[in-house]
Amino acid sequence: SWTTGNVIEEQVAAIREQVGDKRAICGLSGGVDSAVAAALVQKAIGAQLTCVYVDHGLMRKDETEQVEKDFVAATGVQLKVVDAEERFLKALAGVSDPEEKRKIIGREFIRVFEQAQAEIIADEGPAVEFLVQGTLYPDVVESGGGTGTANIKSHHNVGGLPEDLEFRLIEPLRKLFKDEVRMVGQELGLPDEIVQRQPFPGPGLGIRIVGEVTKERLDLLRDADAIAREELTAAGLDRDIWQCPVVLLADVRSVGVQGDGRTYGHPIVLRPVSSEDAMTADWSRLPYEVLAKISTRITNEVADVNRVVLDVTSKPPGTIEWE
Ligand code: XMP
Repeated sequence: SWTTGNVIEEQVAAIREQVGDKRAICGLSGGVDSAVAAALVQKAIGAQLTCVYVDHGLMRKDETEQVEKDFVAATGVQLKVVDAEERFLKALAGVSDPEEKRKIIGREFIRVFEQAQAEIIADEGPAVEFLVQGTLYPDVVESGGGTGTANIKSHHNVGGLPEDLEFRLIEPLRKLFKDEVRMVGQELGLPDEIVQRQPFPGPGLGIRIVGEVTKERLDLLRDADAIAREELTAAGLDRDIWQCPVVLLADVRSVGVQGDGRTYGHPIVLRPVSSEDAMTADWSRLPYEVLAKISTRITNEVADVNRVVLDVTSKPPGTIEWE
């Protein structure tokens, strides 16, 4: 019968046999799938695995630290962190178009990741033969079901891997659904903040700023987002909603009054949605008290934000993200 213990045991044995005395690389995104895949492979081959985390500067508050500190503490994994914030900000400077932003982020991500791979291979030699992927069962079905060696489907999560990838693939989650992956992650001792994380887009906060992406705007949005998440968690709503994007309308200003003066600040949009699979979604009917608390806190605590608005659009016609 299916138990997380059996799955882990089976996979550990299979990975050991597959890898032998070679070495493997795994990209971490901060998401559940790559974290659980990496933890499984780490359990199997220990220091023969090196993980790479590209910090693009577009993560939410504390998420990079969760990978750098909590994930490493829980797994003992060998981690190479690439701080690429400046590079991403520079590439995004002056760009407001959503598709253009996505393209730039995807392109920079591949470049930085490939460079890190090349450095690891230079350090460790040609024994690096394997690449770990957090492919789930639904991804396998979607892409036709072949076992992975060279040709990997371009996945929008990492902005698409190169077609000519020469690694052999380790995909320890190929038979699992999302809820099973979470159970395996829990059994492996990963922190709840990682295992129970709601979906978050690969391009991160870069596509939650309507307008140009700048460091100041990112910091502002990070603060607003952290308040919303904190209050949703405190109200026990994390399991009820699929996700709640928090969006900064950076090119919009409206008049407000705060303290003894007129303000002219930016609106923050709350986009809480309920969904089964993100293909369709409905806006979540959150309790008014929770919305009030989030609104009061964001306008009090985040400078330059003087208005909080609620998105009451289902998908379709609105997508979950604003860009
Ligand atoms: P939309 O906005 O299309 O989002 O309704 C559907 C789901 O996908 C997530 N999303 C992304 N995830 N890379 C990702 O890994 C992306 O570029 C991306 N864009 C949207 C979104 O958060 C929602 O869960």
